[in-house]
Formats: sequence, structure tokens, C-alpha cells
Amino acid sequence: MAGSVAVSGAKNAALPELAAVCLSAEPIVFSNLPQVEDIKVMVAALREIGAETESEAALAGDGAGLQGHELRIAMPTLHSPVVSHRIARTTRASVLLLGPMLARCGAARVSMPGGCAIGERKIDFHLQGLERMGAEILVAGEYLSARCDRLHGIDFTFPGKTVTGTENLLMAAALAEGTTVLRNCAQEPEVADLAALLAAMGADIRSQDGETYVIRGRASLHGASHRVIPDRIEAGTYLIAGCFPGNDIRVEAVIPEHLGSLLGILHDMGADVAVHQKEFHARGGAALRPVAVVTEPYPGFPTDLQAQLTTLLTQARGVSRVRETIFNDRFRHAGELNRLGADIEVRGDEALIRGGSTLRGAVLKTTDLRASAALVLGGLAAAGETRIENSYQLFRGYEDMPGKLQKLGADITMAWE
Ligand code: EPU
Repeated sequence: MAGSVAVSGAKNAALPELAAVCLSAEPIVFSNLPQVEDIKVMVAALREIGAETESEAALAGDGAGLQGHELRIAMPTLHSPVVSHRIARTTRASVLLLGPMLARCGAARVSMPGGCAIGERKIDFHLQGLERMGAEILVAGEYLSARCDRLHGIDFTFPGKTVTGTENLLMAAALAEGTTVLRNCAQEPEVADLAALLAAMGADIRSQDGETYVIRGRASLHGASHRVIPDRIEAGTYLIAGCFPGNDIRVEAVIPEHLGSLLGILHDMGADVAVHQKEFHARGGAALRPVAVVTEPYPGFPTDLQAQLTTLLTQARGVSRVRETIFNDRFRHAGELNRLGADIEVRGDEALIRGGSTLRGAVLKTTDLRASAALVLGGLAAAGETRIENSYQLFRGYEDMPGKLQKLGADITMAWE
């Protein structure tokens, strides 16, 4: 594969930012919104509870209308604070509506997010924080119900790093009475991007280091315009793709500082990567060395790139080790990569990759979004044809990945096209 690929807006920034629409009666105008399934589901959830949108055709489209990356969306009144099971079961991100709905109208009902194909995903820190702010929370059947009078400010230290937990409480605090101090916050760029949107909406939100936030609650927030940051995980995926033998890929519209950990790992592997102001240039062909990596909260190596890097490590001669510390079941791609001829052994939270394998096409089944991307990379590197079942998962978080890869010269088609 050779050529340039432009990175879309960050799904995991856009999701909480869409939830923030609940915090104001005035419109928010988004640009660089990624056209991916999770975003469409979030917009559908917002419309169920009262949001009005102006580029409905673009976001509700089933393929043909997927042109626009702009959306004007407003929640004049939040008429029903209930996110239906139908919507919530498709994306766990619906839990991000809890804090904003409580802050705006004192009630929220969200279908309980269940287990997930990457392991246990608890929300106890979200709930602890919201309860401390004055919410009463009840889990009945498959629904989580919460109510409150006006939320009040708290001094809260997250017991562990949580991305959406931090985002939920930042949004709740923006409309709470009094000052909230949140400590041990997740420092992912997506959290900082949400904080920037909240500030643009008039929230009084400050942070020196991104780990502690001080928010003085306002009675109301106003409308704003916001450009979603580039998706660092999509950028990292194409950067990794460029490091496979024979490839020469420029990844455009990136913020290199967001991928410092991956760049460090690729450097240690001896990959040929050049970093420009807003662009990466990766050329495959260098002899890759094995490495030992551990997933960590930002600025550490992201769990959302673990599967894709694992695929590349099958091409590094020697034994690599990948330890997953964020989720307890995120190695399901390993067995599938072995079907392609890789030699990966999973021992508890660690995968041992004996690299240097020649990959051959096979029929694979994917289980989650990032595993899907890893299997696509494996299939492209393998000789012969690879079929990936369940691959709709890819479209939850990668905008038009087949199209972008085709432009780079990949031979990839969607079987249902
Ligand atoms: N955790 C708790 N209690 C909580 C919250 C989290 O114990 O209240 C634990 C989780 O069980 C997990 C760890 O803390 O073991 C990290 O969870 P976190 O809350 O940070 O994850 P998340 O907010 O549910 C977001 C991304 C994920 C990404 C993780 C980690 C969104 C919408 N999702 O999930 O993205 O893997 O942070 O960076 O922002 C993806 O895009 O493919 C994806 C899974």
C-alpha cells in the first residue's frame, strides 16, 4: 500500500461532546464529526430525548448520505430523560448521558451497560461521584434510574483512572451548584477536548495539569461551535499499517503529541517513521525488533492500539511481550491472528508474540472494534485471501476504513456490497 490517508475526527471525543448537548438549550455546531456508527447511535439517543438536528440526512444515512462532518444540534427542552434499551445496548457510550441529563433536568434513566467483548467495564466511579453530588441512583432490572434536586459541588478523587467517568462528572459539575474539584482525572486528549467545548459553552472549568479539574457550576450554559480533534487511534492504526513490509503511507491531519507512546515503541522496534508537524510518514521494510509493551492510561500506550500493534509484532523477529492492564479480556484477536499463521500465546494479562511468521489468508471472526482493525491489518499482510466475519464492528469507530485502504491500493471489499 502507498499514498496518503487523512484521519477523521475522534469518535471518543465526539461521543461525550454530543452528550454535552444536553447541558444547554442553545445549539452546538460540530465540525470534523466522524461518520461512524457509534456517533449515529448517540445522535439517535439525543433525538429520542428531545434534540433537534439540522443535518439529519447525513447522520441518519445508511451509506449514501455519509458526506457531511458538520452537525448543528440543540436540546431546547429535554422532554424525556430516558435512553431506551434499543439504543443503549448498541453503545456503552449512552452512560455518558447520565451526568448531563441529571444536571439539566434532575432525572435520568439509562439501560445498564452490560459486559463487553473486551471484558469487565465498571461504572462504579461514575455512580459514586454522582451520588456524592446529590443523586439518588437505583438499579432496577436492566435500567439504571437516577434523580436529584440540583446537583452540588464536591471534592472527589477518582479511585482509579476512568475516561468516561471523568467526562460524566465534568459535565455534571458544569451545571452543579457551587465548586467541584475532581482529582485523579483521566488525562486522555479526548477529555481535554471535552473540557475545551464546555469552556466554549461558558462553563467555568480550569485545570493546571489535566489531572485535577476545578469547576465552578453555572446556572446555564450557552451554545458554541467546536471542531473535534483528530482521532489518535485511527491515526495510530494507519501509522502501524505503514510499518508493514512493502508499505509507504503518509498519515495526514494528526496531532503527533497525542501518539508519543506509540512513536516511542515504533522507534524501539526500528521502524522507519518520520514525524512532521501534522503528518506521519511510515515506510515498511526495516527489519523490526521485538519489544515489551504495557497498556496504560494516557500518556501511556493506549489499550485501543494494543491489538493493531500485536499484529505488527508478528512481523518482528524474536519474542515480544504485550501486557494489557486496562481491560481483562482484550486478547481475543490473538487466536484469530494465529489462524493466519501467527504464533501468539496468551498467558493471563500477557501475550507472548513469537514474531517472524509468514501470514497466510484464512477465515476469521472478529469480536470488537479494535480487534477488527487488527485483523484487517493481518489480512492485508497475509498471502492470499482473508475473510473477516462480523466486521461491521469496524464501522462503529473507523470512518470508511475499506475506502481509505482502497485508495492506498489495498484489495479489500465489503462482502455485502
Ligand atoms: N473502571 C472501574 N470503575 C469505573 C470506571 C472504569 O473499575 O467506574 C475500570 C474499567 O472496568 C476498566 C478501566 O477502569 O478496567 C478503564 O475504564 P474507562 O472507564 O477508562 O473506560 P471507558 O471510559 O469505558 C473509554 C473508551 C474506550 C477505551 C477506554 C480506555 C470511550 C467512549 N471509550 O472507555 O474506547 O478503551 O476509555 O482508554 O471513550 C474503543 O474506542 O474501542 C474503546 C473501547
